[in-house]
Amino acid sequence: MRTPIIAGNWKMFKLLSESVTFVGELAPRLSALTSVERVVCPTYLALASVAEALKGSGIKVGAQSVHWEAQGAFTSQISPWMLQGLAEYVIIGHSECRAYLNETDETVNKKVKASLAYGLKPIIAVGESLQQNEAGQTQQIVGGQVRAALNGVDAANMANIVIAYEPIWAIGTGKNASGEVANSIIGGTIRATLADLYGNDIAQTVRIQYGGSVKPENMFEYMSQPDIDGALVGGASLKVNDFVQLVEAAAKAKGI
Ligand code: PGA
Repeated sequence: MRTPIIAGNWKMFKLLSESVTFVGELAPRLSALTSVERVVCPTYLALASVAEALKGSGIKVGAQSVHWEAQGAFTSQISPWMLQGLAEYVIIGHSECRAYLNETDETVNKKVKASLAYGLKPIIAVGESLQQNEAGQTQQIVGGQVRAALNGVDAANMANIVIAYEPIWAIGTGKNASGEVANSIIGGTIRATLADLYGNDIAQTVRIQYGGSVKPENMFEYMSQPDIDGALVGGASLKVNDFVQLVEAAAKAKGI
């Protein structure tokens, strides 16, 4: 069975002190729920302190993006080399980075390969816009993003990759895809694309999350779907109670 993975994407929220306080409250409340992999992705500024505060808790730390070079004249950027030892995961290709920070399929691919080279585990975000969705292009867009992100990534690395299906129209809008619709894209498009690229055996082992307005109230519905292995959560991951309920709902839905 694929181990469910819930990752909280804190985006540009929480001061350093708030981040540390948060994980100090979260860790004891999640300590019994080890059947679900739990990840928090604070801002770069809080990574080191949050990683330190979570030592021994079993809760993993992720970064929200990364550059593809190890070092160089790239003002403002953080490299995969620098993230070693601070973060285990790194979100790559989030739609907000694609929309506002010039992230493209090409930079996503470069970041994925660089992260793997430095032992980081990419959480690759893909998803269609409302316009693309309404034009019936979801499968083509999402399948294309997956292929582009994984261009040149070999099968041995797929154990270290998580994919997050995040329809852009569902992020932070309160409009979420139904469990069934999300499952059909995740299984029918993303896992099918992975099967085409790497064979069905490998495709069946890759964890694929849903993201976009996931909350304690709808988590069970998503996690009850056979192809959905977790969630990438923004807003609801900013509250300790909600985060705990998300993980509980995942464990309950998967019967673990
Ligand atoms: P949301 O964000 O849960 O607030 O919709 C999800 C994301 O952007 O990863």
